[in-house]
Amino acid sequence: MRIAVLGAAGRMGRMLCALAGGEGLEVVRKIDIAEGCDAGWQTGEIDGVVDFSFHAAVAGNISKAAAEGIPYVLGTTGLSPDEQRSVDEAAKKIPVVQSGNYSLGVNLLLDLVRKAAKSLGAGYDIEVVEMHHRHKKDAPSGTALMLAKAAAEGRGIDFGANALYGRSGEPGERTADEIAVHALRGGAVVGEHTVMFAGELERIELVHKAQSREAFALGALRALKWAKGKAGGKYDMRDVLGLKEG
Ligand SMILES: NC(=O)c1ccc[n+]([C@@H]2O[C@H](COP(=O)([O-])OP(=O)(O)OC[C@H]3O[C@@H](n4cnc5c(N)ncnc54)[C@H](O)[C@@H]3O)[C@@H](O)[C@H]2O)c1
Repeated sequence: MRIAVLGAAGRMGRMLCALAGGEGLEVVRKIDIAEGCDAGWQTGEIDGVVDFSFHAAVAGNISKAAAEGIPYVLGTTGLSPDEQRSVDEAAKKIPVVQSGNYSLGVNLLLDLVRKAAKSLGAGYDIEVVEMHHRHKKDAPSGTALMLAKAAAEGRGIDFGANALYGRSGEPGERTADEIAVHALRGGAVVGEHTVMFAGELERIELVHKAQSREAFALGALRALKWAKGKAGGKYDMRDVLGLKEG
């Protein structure tokens, strides 16, 4: 399968280019705004795109992929509502895999969080804490949002209506259903997420620590191979891993 890597000069892009060959994928376009990279791809020269770039780059590229009928794996996070609409529009024509996290561990953790939130119920306050390296541009992370939404689903509440991003000033007492998400930045941390369930008598913490970007890159490359030949639609990594079947 001939592919284009979007954001090829970045931390994830370099890892994707390095690992693609081992997965039987040929990188024919390394696309980035950085010097020495390709500006785009020509129609007909690639069979799929993997995008770990910047939110503003997504709409144009995914629309082009949709016009050409080739699958798109989207790892880029921090999309605006308009940018997300262009992704949803493209998914009417082509298979789009979109996930804020392509690792096996986080996708399993989503199920554990949903289950814990459901079992523990309203007596346990839910807080999500994430930490990433100092260069990360968006906050909170796409993964933190996925985990917070899974917790809300398990609790049976609407995340949008109960979400809180950090606290300062005088926010007042916590409500039973609020789900606060906190973003820490520093050093070279690849990605760490903790979901806390804090009760009066005990606290449960579910933690995931990525040791290497390889976990995301391999997942994304496998997602692109999986997407080849699939019908148009929106998929996520839990579809790719078969975690929705059980
Ligand atoms: N879903 C996941 O599993 C996962 C994992 C890690 C990172 N990410 C996300 O992937 C994205 C990239 O992360 P990173 O750590 O590699 O960032 P990075 O800043 O190291 O790399 C981004 C690259 O995109 C390039 N770029 C910017 N605008 C562009 C444009 N218009 N066209 C083409 N290239 C452009 C930049 O020059 C840079 O080389 C971020 O949104 C990050 O949150 C997702």
